[in-house]
Amino acid sequence: MSSRLALGGAVATLLPPSLGCGPMSGALPVIPNSPSNSYDLTFASFPALQTTGGATLVQIDATSGSVPVAIVRTGATTAVALQAICTHAGCLVNPFDGGSRTFSCPCHGSVFAEDGTVVRGPAQFPLSPYPAAVGADAITVSVS
Ligand code: FES
Repeated sequence: MSSRLALGGAVATLLPPSLGCGPMSGALPVIPNSPSNSYDLTFASFPALQTTGGATLVQIDATSGSVPVAIVRTGATTAVALQAICTHAGCLVNPFDGGSRTFSCPCHGSVFAEDGTVVRGPAQFPLSPYPAAVGADAITVSVS
């Protein structure tokens, strides 16, 4: 291996995880701040959430700060919303994988179940949940 390649590898390992991998949160649909701390993800805007197994990843401009949130429709009347930040070192998790029904982290390989629990480390803590309720036209997520 040339020294140039070795140096390239060393530089890559020194980058903060959030800069080195994963979808960029800037590319996510932004949900503007709501003084009520309640955010409606309408089925008109997010049709994937209309059916069980559907999911989306958004950036919610919450009062406490902007946060990426993953929403999964888990049943006819149920949904989960999770902070989409890996609890190992802070990378944005990949979009929900409907086949394995998991979220994976592109940085070091952690895997989380659809309820946010850790399936595989190195992460040791679950993704943080937010209240989510299924309505007639939307899933409402509460983020304060
Ligand atoms: S940041 Fe290390 S596994 Fe996610």
